Amino acid sequence: MIYFLACIAAIAGFLFGYDEGVIAVARPLLDKDFPMTPLVGGFMTAAVPLGALIGASVAGRITDRFGRRRVLMAAAALFAVGAFIAAGMTATWILVAARLVLGLAIGVAAVTAPLFISEAAPVSIRGGLVATYQLAITFGILVSYLTGLAIEGEGTWRLMFGLGAVPGLLFLIGLAFLPESPRWLMLKQYPDKARASLLRLRGEGANVNEELQDIAHAAHAEASTKLDYSVLWSPKVRPALIVGMTLFFLQQLSGINAVIYYAPEIFAHAGFDSGKVQTLATVGVGTVNFVTTILAMYLIDTLGRRPLLVLGFIGTAATMLTIAFAVINPALVPSWVVIVALLLYIASFAISIGPLPHVMMSEIFPLRVRAPGMSMASISNWGFNFVVVFAFPLMLAGIGLAATFAIFAIICIGGIAFTLARVPETTGYSLEAIEAHLESGRPFVTLGAAKI
Ligand code: BGC
Repeated sequence: MIYFLACIAAIAGFLFGYDEGVIAVARPLLDKDFPMTPLVGGFMTAAVPLGALIGASVAGRITDRFGRRRVLMAAAALFAVGAFIAAGMTATWILVAARLVLGLAIGVAAVTAPLFISEAAPVSIRGGLVATYQLAITFGILVSYLTGLAIEGEGTWRLMFGLGAVPGLLFLIGLAFLPESPRWLMLKQYPDKARASLLRLRGEGANVNEELQDIAHAAHAEASTKLDYSVLWSPKVRPALIVGMTLFFLQQLSGINAVIYYAPEIFAHAGFDSGKVQTLATVGVGTVNFVTTILAMYLIDTLGRRPLLVLGFIGTAATMLTIAFAVINPALVPSWVVIVALLLYIASFAISIGPLPHVMMSEIFPLRVRAPGMSMASISNWGFNFVVVFAFPLMLAGIGLAATFAIFAIICIGGIAFTLARVPETTGYSLEAIEAHLESGRPFVTLGAAKI
């Protein structure tokens, strides 16, 4: 059952990545049938993060009301419906609507799947499962790019969109075989059902008494405390809120999703005219993103969060500036430099700025405001994702690629300063130790001050 849970987590992440990446490879083909202005194209592309922003904002409330499993099943159905509508669309506004639906499913699943997993998984493998989810996102992006490579040709964008329905349906079928979260059942005062669910998860015959008691205890404590967003702004908790939200602001304004959603177009702007070369380079982007994320999972706990973040921001700033310089001076810089720089940019991102905001948002908030804190961080993630994905085509048409990338580079340099001034080193500290430091009123950044 544990592996089954891991698969379910992985499919949710995979769908997230697939629906993000597919637009990059489908767009050049789509443009032949449905040409779009930068404004309409930007909005159509950004409809996914916009839908996700809405989905993530309401997910907490609806999963508490209807249950984790039921809400995930609804999201799975939306994934499939959205994919079918996108595949069969006959007008641009229908595609916008389909992508809004897909975004909604992503936003809901991005909050509910990790919650469901962390409530249903035994403590020993919880961290590993969260990491699986991260990796699955990058795998979904890679597969969407590979799909673009495999089925290139006129009109095949319909198939690319439609294929997203397959993992959506698998997700739905998989969920049908899982029990509801025992923790949610307990919260809703169904102790017998909670026991039955836990028995199914741990295997018939397992002794679940102790675990069930812990769950009942925690559920009781939770029911008696009211969720209070205002606590997030109190002087003691505010430093954590600033770190959580700013890290996602920086992650998105590093320009990552300009690359993930528009890679072939960027290669076209940098002078690569062949569609095949654009798709191949895009697959390179997806591969480096996936492989480096595996490396990051190891480095995060050995090298530490702060050094990795600084390294990531230096790498992304330097590579963005290199590309800007190459685009302005094509006579001085050979064109392959752009591809290498973009791949190094992705590696710098995936080793640090990609996974770290997700990891840290689950560590820095005190338990009593962990859920609202994480939801504010997610809102920052999707909100700025939407801003960048919507604005990028307009910036490309207005100020050009070099100036746009230079802006991303300047923000990354700001990221170095922010990390040094505000981000605490949480590596090696228990959640309780992090919370105690925050509550002590000492500057948050001084946690683990000896390290960089
Ligand atoms: C970000 C996504 C991005 C992905 C790329 C994630 O950490 O939150 O917005 O598309 O990394 O791998």
